[in-house]
Amino acid sequence: MPKVTVHRKAHFNAAHRLYRKDWSDEKNTAVFGKCSNPNFHGHNYDLEVSVTGEIDKETGFVMDLSILRKLIKEEVEEAFDHKNLNVEVAEFKEVNPTAENISVVIYDKLRTKINRNLDLSIKLYETPRNFVTYSGN
Ligand code: NI
Repeated sequence: MPKVTVHRKAHFNAAHRLYRKDWSDEKNTAVFGKCSNPNFHGHNYDLEVSVTGEIDKETGFVMDLSILRKLIKEEVEEAFDHKNLNVEVAEFKEVNPTAENISVVIYDKLRTKINRNLDLSIKLYETPRNFVTYSGN
């Protein structure tokens, strides 16, 4: 069977601050710039989740997109939307909530819920021009 990739877009707003406790304010500002603002700031994150696999003979689907939509809602939107990632999301208590690290957390959460026969890939936009991708490698 041909392998096809299905995609689902989602969105969440969240606040964060990039910093290291073990660095001085000057070094944090030098490395992280505006993203190190001690009072936090928000981003409008756009997410694209892609699932690749063979088309199921019975359904004609790679994956039922309504199931993927529900998974993203439960695992990502409800966990992150309108949250302060540093303060309210356990995964970022000790991990800087960069787009890179957020994409890995999203991947890991979804990976456990998606059939192993299917490949998973995450694309996360922190701004319209800055985005990261992660496929578990
Ligand atoms: Ni930022």
